[in-house]
Amino acid sequence: MSVETISVIGLGYIGLPTAAMFASRKKKVIGVDVNQHAVDTINQGKIHIVEPDLDMIVHAAVSEGYLKAVLKPEPADAFLIAVPTPFLPCDEGDVPEPDLSYIKSACEGIAPVLKKGDLVILESTSPVGATEQVAAWLAEARTDLTFPQVAGENADVNVAHCPERVLPGHVVRELVENDRVIGGMSSRCSERSVELYKTFVQGDCVITNARTAEMAKLTENSCRDVQIAFANELSVICDKLDINVWELISLANRHPRINILQPGPGVGGHCIAVDPWFIVSKTPEQAQLIHTARKVNDAKPEWVIDKVKLAIADFLQANPTKTAKDVTIACYGLAFKPDIDDLRESPALSITKRIAEMHSGTVVAVEPNIETLPLSLGHIELVTTEFAFSNANIQVMLVDHKQFKESQPQQGLLIDSKGIW
Ligand SMILES: NC(=O)c1ccc[n+]([C@@H]2O[C@H](COP(=O)([O-])OP(=O)(O)OC[C@H]3O[C@@H](n4cnc5c(N)ncnc54)[C@H](O)[C@@H]3O)[C@@H](O)[C@H]2O)c1
Repeated sequence: MSVETISVIGLGYIGLPTAAMFASRKKKVIGVDVNQHAVDTINQGKIHIVEPDLDMIVHAAVSEGYLKAVLKPEPADAFLIAVPTPFLPCDEGDVPEPDLSYIKSACEGIAPVLKKGDLVILESTSPVGATEQVAAWLAEARTDLTFPQVAGENADVNVAHCPERVLPGHVVRELVENDRVIGGMSSRCSERSVELYKTFVQGDCVITNARTAEMAKLTENSCRDVQIAFANELSVICDKLDINVWELISLANRHPRINILQPGPGVGGHCIAVDPWFIVSKTPEQAQLIHTARKVNDAKPEWVIDKVKLAIADFLQANPTKTAKDVTIACYGLAFKPDIDDLRESPALSITKRIAEMHSGTVVAVEPNIETLPLSLGHIELVTTEFAFSNANIQVMLVDHKQFKESQPQQGLLIDSKGIW
């Protein structure tokens, strides 16, 4: 059963580049998104996200007729689901549970157009068991078709989990070069998925089962989270002991088998700050270290905010004629990591917001990768690096964007959570 038409459900940071890669290999691609703006933008041959080189590929794919975007699923031979998998809101201190409602709604969308011979691949990062849940939802909606949980190798519709591990900012290259983990619900599901990805993937496509594939992705991100937590904990310890953590780490990393990551203001983004919770919520008794790492990283923004409070007090002590209203604070960087525009789950954004809420003076933000500030930041002004350098009394480095590494403020108290000044 050859795959001629591919439908990608969810045209965001993962789905759109994936759709564009298939289209660039002259496959007919139907992209589906519930966001009208995204659909309209893509159909004009443009992109609604920031990702180097993607605009050219999407433009070529749309103008040559290989890619179109729609609001509602249409029949296709393969469906790739790349919708968000956040966690559900919960009380502070509780373990968040994964929110599978976007996946469920994607399944409800594709179920009516599914046919015998189709392949459904869940690409969204998912808790263990989600792929089986996808197959169960589809089977419930389409009792006329058989699925691998019952029909195994002979199923009418094949289902697999193939998690995505690309790095934002390098997605176009990594989609092609990275190895892929392919977790089919049966051997046939895996083989068909490998064949599909081999349309453009040059890395190895390594076959496993769906549950292991789900856990593999969660493991990768939990491993990063634990390692960052180690660095963040060191930074707090070193601060207490009056040791320069950056120097300490560079010394320790001279050991041939040590590679400590860099500390920062916390951990953000759609993935590393979220995915470990999918393990913790499933196995709370067993996931002790992973849970602690989450707590260490989630506590770091508050630690930075405490540093800002201390800096305000120090400034006022050194300038007794001034009040807090006279103190200007500049926050450098809002994205969740360097050199991207993605503000999701960003500790820099939450720190800036909290500073603005608690501080009665002026707060400005410098974020070279965006043109307007999110409404959640209220009255904060977006300013240039030069303006902030020469006007702020307290300079708070939050994200080591390349623009910030070129120079450093000549005035004000520095709180450098990234160790670049
Ligand atoms: N961004 C990354 O770097 C990255 C890396 C690896 C894995 N992932 C995973 O990939 C998945 C997608 O992430 P993303 O960053 O592309 O998210 P995103 O928010 O950028 O894009 C998701 C898109 O899905 C659309 N959508 C939501 N519900 C839909 C539905 N029912 N039907 C059609 N479209 C729908 C949204 O409008 C949005 O455009 C997540 O599970 C994420 O954890 C992301």
